Amino acid sequence: MKVKFWSKDSWKDRAAHQLPTYPDKNELKRVEAKLETLPPLVFGGEVFQLRQLLASAAQGETFVLQGGDCAESFSEFNTETIRDTFRVLLQMSVIFSFMSEKPIVKIGRCAGQFAKPRSSDTETINGITLPAYRGDIINGSEFTESERVPDPNRILTAYFQSTATLNFLRAMAAGGFADTQQAPNWILDFVENAAIKEKYLELAHLIQKRFDFIQKYNIQQSARERMDFYTSHEALLLPYEQALTRLDASTGKYIATSAHFLWIGDRTRQPDGAHVDFLRGVENPIGIKCGPSLSNSDLLQLIETLNPHNTPGRITLISRMGAGKVDRYLTGLISAVKARGLSVVWMCDPMHGNTEKNEAGIKYRAVEKILSEIQEFFTVCRRLGVYPGGLHLEMTGKNVTECLGGPRKIDLTEKYETFCDPRLNDEQAIDLAFKVCELLQAKPAFEFHDHLIFT
Ligand code: PEP
Ligand code: CO
Repeated sequence: MKVKFWSKDSWKDRAAHQLPTYPDKNELKRVEAKLETLPPLVFGGEVFQLRQLLASAAQGETFVLQGGDCAESFSEFNTETIRDTFRVLLQMSVIFSFMSEKPIVKIGRCAGQFAKPRSSDTETINGITLPAYRGDIINGSEFTESERVPDPNRILTAYFQSTATLNFLRAMAAGGFADTQQAPNWILDFVENAAIKEKYLELAHLIQKRFDFIQKYNIQQSARERMDFYTSHEALLLPYEQALTRLDASTGKYIATSAHFLWIGDRTRQPDGAHVDFLRGVENPIGIKCGPSLSNSDLLQLIETLNPHNTPGRITLISRMGAGKVDRYLTGLISAVKARGLSVVWMCDPMHGNTEKNEAGIKYRAVEKILSEIQEFFTVCRRLGVYPGGLHLEMTGKNVTECLGGPRKIDLTEKYETFCDPRLNDEQAIDLAFKVCELLQAKPAFEFHDHLIFT
């Protein structure tokens, strides 16, 4: 096959969906030029390290937990938000790791998860129509004409917020906060629900007793090994991604240094589109969101374009079909990929196919449906003989009320703070981790475990 020319900006010759039109082109150029001079957020070595870990997930040796906000925001940028989300991810990963006896690859939706695809270009409230909010890196969420104008300077604010977020995450990861030995302390810190608290304490107790296991999988000696937390976001805003794409001196390859892992959204995955073109030229591991409208042939073409040499760890396929639809839509995709012998990580995003609206027009997700989609995903993977390699969640460390169900009664109006999609709160996220493990323990045939350790 003829190898098509690629450069950092060759995507500009392709049709680009979901990109804003900046009225001030000169200002955009100035911002891009500035960003090109600023330090990378991540290094090539880390990116290749994550690819290796994802290659082992493709082989069934590790499990991936990817999670965080639907969209980061400038106004909600503070220590607690970052720390608490990080902590809940760690807690969930301790649960998964302990139950599965597998190392968990932890990837945050953070330090760059700002740009949002929208189903409509405009929003109408009380007869007034304005451009849609596209995430803080593009325009403002407030429903005023001036806020909704795409402003290039927001790109720099997002970059600096991402650097501060990543700096804090690195400090927590390397500075001891993330040591699994600390697990009982994270647990005691925040849980209000007595039943979940008891489950934690039981787990923490078991963890202490199973020190061998912890040593085997979680206690990392060197600072470098300890940074086993990676960042990710949807590679939507291509001017931002391009300006942060750098040549890696040690390999001579291009790295998108805005995050370790980048994914292509369900709305921008056109095989000939700009987003796919940009991502085919960078070395980062790439996620592809797979919704019900994705055809087998488009998926195969996408994989061929993004991973022509079938390198393990490069491609993660993130299924987001919706509860009740996984069998119908995922079976064909898995079969097609399997028939070609393609190496991928199969992952489940049980959030984006399960967004609903109540009578008052408030967006929410039902924990029941989220769990149901996860169960369907595991069932289909198992039936087709592929390894269910991970979960992709929208969650936060705060006690928001955006999803219905879980350990306590939720009133959506009580603490509804999301700028975009509804997220699992801290208790719902931890409870979900336990429930997923229970679900898998009840059906050991899923082979999530090498063997059960709770017996
Ligand atoms: C998202 O992950 O926030 C998102 C918009 O997902 P999708 O592209 O799958 O709809
Ligand atoms: Co979302």
